[in-house]
Amino acid sequence: MLHSSRSGVSRALVAAGILSLGIIGMSSGHAADEKIKVGLMLPATGTFAALGSAISNGFKQYVAENGGKLGGREVEYYTVDDESDPAKATENANKLIKRDKVDVLVGTVHSGVALAMAKVARDNKTLMIVPNAGADELTGPLCAPTLFRTSFTNWQPAYAMGKVAAEKGHKKVVTLTWKYAAGQQSIEGFKEAFEQAGGKVVKDMTLPFPNVEFQPFLTEIAALKPDAVFVFFAGAGAAKFVKDYAAAGLKSSIPLYATGFLTDGTLEAMGDAGKGLLTTLHYADGLDNKKDGAFRLNYAKTYKLQPDVYAVQGYDAAQLYQAGLAAAGGDATKQDVIIKAMESAKIDSPRGAFTLSKAHNPVQDIYLRQAEGTQNKLVSTPIKALADPARGCKM
Ligand code: BEZ
Repeated sequence: MLHSSRSGVSRALVAAGILSLGIIGMSSGHAADEKIKVGLMLPATGTFAALGSAISNGFKQYVAENGGKLGGREVEYYTVDDESDPAKATENANKLIKRDKVDVLVGTVHSGVALAMAKVARDNKTLMIVPNAGADELTGPLCAPTLFRTSFTNWQPAYAMGKVAAEKGHKKVVTLTWKYAAGQQSIEGFKEAFEQAGGKVVKDMTLPFPNVEFQPFLTEIAALKPDAVFVFFAGAGAAKFVKDYAAAGLKSSIPLYATGFLTDGTLEAMGDAGKGLLTTLHYADGLDNKKDGAFRLNYAKTYKLQPDVYAVQGYDAAQLYQAGLAAAGGDATKQDVIIKAMESAKIDSPRGAFTLSKAHNPVQDIYLRQAEGTQNKLVSTPIKALADPARGCKM
């Protein structure tokens, strides 16, 4: 009797223990069999749609290569088309954070949208990884322990192109871009290096994002006759610009320079107009590293497409989160542990291995590339291990 009553007690205790473990697990929302919720806020429509799709492909490719898991747990995706529209960004970020309760917010392409997202993520203490948007502020005055980036600052590749253009002997440059953070900060980065080296930007021209009525600007460039032109455009708008530049007869008379966003993923659409273009970026075709070879092979096999810089940045966002989550044993609520591991991670990227700066932005080589067919072929590495100055970041 005694024996049976004791075992009844212990059964009750075990049951209570299981129950309380269950309650603890549920209250933290992270029982071992629960999936990790990844919020992908990216453009699926508009001029940056292809960029969003490549980022999503890259992220999912890494997860698949990692056995379909992050931090040892299966992954569930929650997606929102942000339309590259800053006016809808707060509401869209709230859908993923408050309604879907994602563990990590991954996004986005457009700098203006990312700035609004980062505020929502920060106010809700949600971990955010930026897989493209270059807004300098994100790892500058708005830097935060919970905010990471696997792409670039707008300053980084543009600064490198300013150096290259000066070394080519150009003295007078005209710039043209969309009037928003990415465009304007790219121009500033270019100007900083170009003017330090003795060049002069004689005119800055802008048009609203995502307008593609380039004709009046091309007419003005022809009249100004600068030594060279520097632009920031990306996605479908970039292809249209390069075709218009060539059709206006400028390609053969005034060299065109840009950051690599002009030609990544767009060369096929540009056709002959893109041939020979020189751009600077943290990725290139023809990099001699094993990781890139394997990444490209798998990407082509999975998506029947060639990867570009956006796919790489998405892939690395997943790698970075894996580094953090693995250190926390898959517990997404252990934010301090995750952040510490992400801060010290060395990411084995297809672009070449990189680490993060104190402001959580990649310290990375910037390549000079030349367009050949549908490839941006590596020419040289004008700046190695370039860190953004992270002006205004107090972390
Ligand atoms: C941006 O808005 O930050 C951006 C968009 C496309 C390519 C590169 C940067």
